[in-house]
Parts: sequence; C-alpha cells; structure tokens
Amino acid sequence: PSLSPRVRTLMDRIESGLPEGRIPASIFGNAEVHQAELRKIFGRAWVYMAHESEIEANGDYVVRRIGEDSFVVTRDENGDIHVLFDACKHRGVQICRADSGNTSHFRCPYHGWTYSSDGSLVGAPLWKNAFGTMSKADNGLAKAAQVESFHGLIFATLDPGAPPLREYLGGMAWYMDLLFGLDKDGVEVLGKPQRFVLDANWKSGADNFSGDDYHLGTLHKSVYAIGAFPVPFSENMMGYHIQASPGHSLSFSMAEDADEPGPKFFGFPESLAENFDTANISGHQLEVARRSRVFVGNVFPNFSILALPMTEDGATHAPTGVLTVRCWQPKGPGQVEMWNWFLGYKNMTPEQKDRAYRAGLGTFSLGGAFEMDDTEPWITVGRTGRSVAAELLDFELNYEMGMPGVGMAHPVQDWPGPGKVYWTRYEEGVQRNMYAYYADLMRAEPGQWPEHEF
Ligand code: FES
Ligand code: FE
Repeated sequence: PSLSPRVRTLMDRIESGLPEGRIPASIFGNAEVHQAELRKIFGRAWVYMAHESEIEANGDYVVRRIGEDSFVVTRDENGDIHVLFDACKHRGVQICRADSGNTSHFRCPYHGWTYSSDGSLVGAPLWKNAFGTMSKADNGLAKAAQVESFHGLIFATLDPGAPPLREYLGGMAWYMDLLFGLDKDGVEVLGKPQRFVLDANWKSGADNFSGDDYHLGTLHKSVYAIGAFPVPFSENMMGYHIQASPGHSLSFSMAEDADEPGPKFFGFPESLAENFDTANISGHQLEVARRSRVFVGNVFPNFSILALPMTEDGATHAPTGVLTVRCWQPKGPGQVEMWNWFLGYKNMTPEQKDRAYRAGLGTFSLGGAFEMDDTEPWITVGRTGRSVAAELLDFELNYEMGMPGVGMAHPVQDWPGPGKVYWTRYEEGVQRNMYAYYADLMRAEPGQWPEHEF
C-alpha cells in the first residue's frame, strides 16, 4: 500500500527540509507515520534480533520483535539458527509463551500442533483422524525472509529482496569490526537484557545514539558531578562524526594528539587491551580503537552501540570500559520498549566482566545515571510530535549543527575508514544522514531499495 497523503507530505518535507537542517516534529508521534514505519521500515530493514551467545546450546530460544511482531529466535538440534514467526500455522495462535528457554518442540496451546525448533511441523493430536495424509512439510512455522549474523549479532529481515546484511551495513561494518573484533575471541552477553517501556518515539533513541554528544554538557551534568564518566565535556567533544553509509552513523571521542594521556580502547582494562591485535582487524582499525575514548553509533533503524569508560560511582570505583547494545523497539505511535544488553569480551576475567556489568547498570540502565537523564526529554519529544500545535504550525526541529558555515565542524579527508567524516563532534550530519535514509525507505516502492553507498 502506498503512503497516506499526510505521511507522504511529511516525508517530502524531510527531503526538502534537510538541506536547511529542518525536520518536521510530527514524525515523532503521528499515528499514520507509525503505521507506515511498521511496514516500510521494520517490514524491510535488517533488524537486530539477538546475540548468538544468548542461544548457545541446541534448543535454546529467545522471543524478540520485528516491528511489533513476535519472532522466536531458536538454535535447533543441529546448532542452526532460525527466526520463526510466533504464530501457529493452524489458526495463528501464539505458540511460545515464555521470553526465553530451552526446548526441542513448541506445542500450540489451542489444538496441540507441535513444531520442532527449526519450525517444521512434526505432528498434531489424532493426526490420522484429523489430517490423514496432509503434508506436514507445507505447514511449518513461517520464517523471517533472511537471517544473518555479524560478529555473533543476529539480524533478520522480512524482505526477501533486501540486500545481504554485509551490503546493508555498508561502511558501518568496518566500524563494527573494530569494536566487536578487537579481541580475537569476540564478545558475549553479560546476562539477560534489561527491558523497559517509555512514552517516547523509537527515533529519539536512534537519533541520540547516531551522535548527539552535545547534550552531555547540559543534560548529563550530574554524571560529571558523581565522577561516572572521566572525559571532561569540552575534551569529549573532540573527535569524529561519521556517516558510515546511508542511514548508519557513529561518533568517536578522540584526542587530537595520538599520545595524549587519558582513556584508550574505550576504557577497556589494560591487561585485556594488551592482547588486542590485528587477528581480526586491520592496523588502521586497531589504531582508531586505540585512540578512542567513546564509540557511539546507530545501525538503521533501531540498533544502537555504545562503548565508553564509566563507573557507577567515581568515589568508590575507577571507570572501566562498558559495552552495551540496545534496541529501540516501537510499541504503538507513543511508546518504545527499550532493550538493553551488556556485552563483554569473552577473554575478560570474571572480575572484569562483573565490573563492566556493574558500571553499566549504574549508568546505562533503567536505574542508571545517564539513562534516567536521557529518557525524560525523549518523552517530551513524543508529546511534541503528537501535538495538534506541531501539525497546525508545521513545527520544524533544528538540525543545522555542523552544516557548511554553521559551527566549527569540517570534513576530514585523510581518514582511514569508509564514510563521510567530520572533525569535532559539534555536528548533526550524523542525524541528517539517518533521516535522509529514513525518508528514502519510507517512500521506496516495494521491491526497490535506496542506495547503500554514498
Ligand atoms: Fe495452533 Fe490450532 S491454532 S493448533
Ligand atoms: Fe545521553
């Protein structure tokens, strides 16, 4: 189905407004926009499902969402991963009633159709009487159209015509490599994800993690007061903003002088960092990671990545590298469910993992110092987005920072990685990149994909 006139107008206004740094506020709360996003964005894009370490054993499963729909991510008896639509082939009843677990079969509670963990129908009560010679092969659970992993991060898409994951990530893959491939054995989850619901729009989280570093000085003043983050605000604004490829953006906090004292390798413990090498990444990638204090980024649409040195309490514990990945899961036009996983390198000691987890809980979690600050303003962005005034006044938001002639950011030429790169983080091209791709995908006809390279 094509976009409603109201949604099309808003998407056209994104396209015409972006060159002047303007975004219509109504996209953060309009119910028609939300319905169109479920189909045009979440029905097509590669969406993050789970990390492979969450379903390590054969038979393990977790329930996740693509848009607002439930899928069961399983590891079958052969160790293969599946993303199964959580709906019985008989009448559409939800077949999985737990969030996670281990099972060889899923039995529908209505009439008892039973599926194996690879989604195939294995039987039903009184099969001969009820179904006789009916094909089982044609009646398995539906599956996501494509499923692929990258550094153990499992993504799925409902669009059989979507480009392969690596192509979809484009330049972003180079940057994900240098974080997730930094230690030779990779990463694993530290416990189960945290989840909580906010009266906010999913795009506010994606927008913030695309590279909104500027808010630290105002909104997060208190995290400096408690010593939760060791890089002073103005120093932290030094670094790079990168539009890795259309839609996907990230930012590094990095000192201008490679030998300047301060956190290296995102604050990960020195005893761990000593072993970081070029087993999985290039020397350029290793050097970028070595010099970086913060990695923050968003894989379009709603998967964010953050690595930085933090502590729950500067008076009692020194900051340590925390790695979190998160999903901004839409839940109706006015809500987002936040999913938050802490990750650690497999080769960290149990003590290092425990420190990273606690430092993460004290900062980026429901009760964390950063998260409590961030969520409140996003709730009011949603309120503005739903407002009649925003619609009647054609109220537009300002995304001009770092545009030519605005502020101090400037393009960088001699950068070893892919993408459009800017020096100093006083820059909002990272967000403009996300909204440009968002509007392109919203307006794309079924079967058509916007460009993945600049
Ligand atoms: Fe599942 Fe009938 S709806 S067995
Ligand atoms: Fe924040």
